[in-house]
Amino acid sequence: MRIREFAIDDYDAVYALWRDAGEGVRLRPSDERAEIAKKLTRDPDLFLVAEIDGTLVGVIIGAWDGRRGWLHHLAVHSDCRRQGVASALLDEVERRLAARGCLKVNLLVHRDSAGARCLYEQRGYEVMTPYVAMGKEL
Ligand SMILES: CC(C)(COP(=O)(O)OP(=O)(O)OC[C@H]1O[C@@H](n2cnc3c(N)ncnc32)[C@H](O)[C@@H]1OP(=O)(O)O)[C@@H](O)C(=O)NCCC(=O)NCCS
Repeated sequence: MRIREFAIDDYDAVYALWRDAGEGVRLRPSDERAEIAKKLTRDPDLFLVAEIDGTLVGVIIGAWDGRRGWLHHLAVHSDCRRQGVASALLDEVERRLAARGCLKVNLLVHRDSAGARCLYEQRGYEVMTPYVAMGKEL
């Protein structure tokens, strides 16, 4: 398995992974090619993909806002799950965030994504009980 940074030529393969990921990844206007290209102007080294034998099988978007790290859209191809692909992506993005001085990483998990919840809990992520997720379209 090889972990490397996302390039815009990966977009179609990455979009297919997200599209096929089920409830765990909700596709939104921010996932269109032009919007994803914007991400490459901020922390491109935190947007990672995993390849096995040259085929793209996993993806994660990491972000650093100067205070917190954020993780988005982790997905692994259904044929390649339970082989440590997500763990390898998380190891690398957490390592890169820590190297920036990031003290804490946050993320949102869909309430029906039991597998993702197990993965994150097993890695030490905790539900932030006093909070509800909020957002606003601009
Ligand atoms: C969640 C997901 C990313 C996990 O990817 P993965 O490459 O299979 O995960 P890993 O192989 O690194 O799993 C590491 C550990 O996490 C836990 N885990 C992972 N998937 C699990 C599942 N479906 N059920 C229970 N535990 C799970 C296990 O402890 C696993 O270790 P083990 O296989 O030795 O038991 C993948 O199932 C996926 O893409 N799901 C759909 C999209 C999604 O929900 N994304 C999350 C967005 S927040």
